[in-house]
Amino acid sequence: MLRLDAKTLVLFVFTATTVAAAGSSLNEQLPAGPERGKAIAACSNCHEPRIIVQQRLSKAAWTKEVDKMIRWGAEVDPNDRDALIDYFSTNFNTEQAAYVAPKTLSGSKPHAKAKR
Ligand code: HEC
Repeated sequence: MLRLDAKTLVLFVFTATTVAAAGSSLNEQLPAGPERGKAIAACSNCHEPRIIVQQRLSKAAWTKEVDKMIRWGAEVDPNDRDALIDYFSTNFNTEQAAYVAPKTLSGSKPHAKAKR
């Protein structure tokens, strides 16, 4: 049976927390810009910014997305709507490299056995 002493456990929890924190600071944040604060205020009540950061959408699709979120309850000042759509479509558009999900395990190779 596996037994963990307190020191090992503390180290494990510390490492896991550090890895998670590093992951979120790398690419889970909304980018700097005048709309960042507004986006956080309007869009992070129901879900993390991650759900926004991982999108790659056209401006038309962002327009639909923001309007849908407003219908679902996001509080966006009508004067900020267009600027928010611009902010998202400038930063998360189809020209950008695909989103890379952060790994919670360092050095793991989940598909190592699937080599062809
Ligand atoms: C009233 C709650 C609420 C607010 C506020 C909100 N969302 Fe959402 N959002 C949801 C729900 C519910 C989902 C779908 C369920 C999920 O995946 O968590 C979602 C999903 C999404 C998705 C994934 C694609 C999709 O349509 O399912 C994106 C992108 C998104 N939201 C962007 C935004 C943006 C941008 C804002 C701010 C303008 C925002 N959300 C504010 C509730 C909200």
